[in-house]
Amino acid sequence: MTAEIIDGKAFAAKVRGQVAAHVAQLVEEHGIKPGLAVVLVGSDPASEVYVKSKGKMTEEVGMTSVEHRLPAETAEADLLVLIAALNVDPRIHGILVQLPLPPHLNSELVINSIDPAKDVDGFHISNVGLLGTGQKSMVPCTPLGCLMMLREHLGSLSGLNAVVVGRSNIVGKPMAQLLLGDSCTVTIAHSRTKDLAAVCRGADILVAAVGRPEMITGDYVKPGATVIDVGINRIDVGGKTKLVGDVAFESCAAVAGAITPVPGGVGPMTIACLLANTLTAACRANGLPEPKGLTA
Ligand code: GUN
Repeated sequence: MTAEIIDGKAFAAKVRGQVAAHVAQLVEEHGIKPGLAVVLVGSDPASEVYVKSKGKMTEEVGMTSVEHRLPAETAEADLLVLIAALNVDPRIHGILVQLPLPPHLNSELVINSIDPAKDVDGFHISNVGLLGTGQKSMVPCTPLGCLMMLREHLGSLSGLNAVVVGRSNIVGKPMAQLLLGDSCTVTIAHSRTKDLAAVCRGADILVAAVGRPEMITGDYVKPGATVIDVGINRIDVGGKTKLVGDVAFESCAAVAGAITPVPGGVGPMTIACLLANTLTAACRANGLPEPKGLTA
C-alpha cells in the first residue's frame, strides 16, 4: 500500500483564501480590518524567519500587520507595558509574542499578561483551561491545523483511536483535547511510554510531535492509518542540512493510508491558522458570527 499524501501547502493556501474572503467582507460591510501584532524580543535567526513570513502573509490576507522588535536585553517590565498597550488597542485583535524569549524573561508571566481574547497562540492559561473544559477558546495554531487536515481528509473523526506522541503544552496536550472534542478515543504517548510501537499500532490517527528525527517508522503504523507529522528537525546528511519530521516518511508511507510530508505538511498550516485565529478574534471582539470551518 502506498499512502495518499496530505498536501498541507495546498490546504493552507485554501485556508488563507477563505480568511482573505472573510476579511474583505468584514472591511466592506463593517469597516473592520483585523490587526495582528507580533512581538519579537532579540534576534534568534529562526524566529526572524517566522516573524517575517507571518508579517507578509498577514498583509496578503488583507489584515493589518504590526511588528514590535525589541532588543534582547529588554526589561520584563517594559515588555509588559507594551503588551498592556496592545491589549487596549482597538486596531489590534491578535497578539503573538514570539517564543523562545531570552532567558531573563519569564515566558509564562509574559504570555499570561496578554488579553486572553487576543491570545491568538492559545497559550494563555485561561485559553488552556477553556479548551480543556470544552468551552469556546483561542486554540493553538499547530494542533488546530492538524485537526483541520484530519477533518478534511477523514470527515467525521468520531470513535476513531487517536494516539498523540508527545506531551508538550504547545502541541501534544492541546492536540489530544481537540481530538477528544471530536469524539476520538485518545492516548497521549511519549518517550517513556512502554512499547511505544505497539501503542502506536492501535492508532487510526497517529500524530507525531516528539521532536526526534524520523523516530516513527513503518512498524509503528497500523495499515491504512492517517499519520500527521508535526516534527521539524534539521539533520546533517553528507554535510548538507536536511529538514525531516518525526516520521520516517518512506517507511511509514508504505503502510499508512494517508500521511503529511515534511516540509509541506503541518508547517504551512500553522501560519494559516494564526491568520484564522486573528480573524476569529476580530469577529468575536465585534459580536459578529465566527468564520465557518476555521475554528475548532
Ligand atoms: N515559536 C515557534 N513557533 C511559535 C508559535 O507558534 N508561536 C509563538 N509565540 N512562538 C513560536
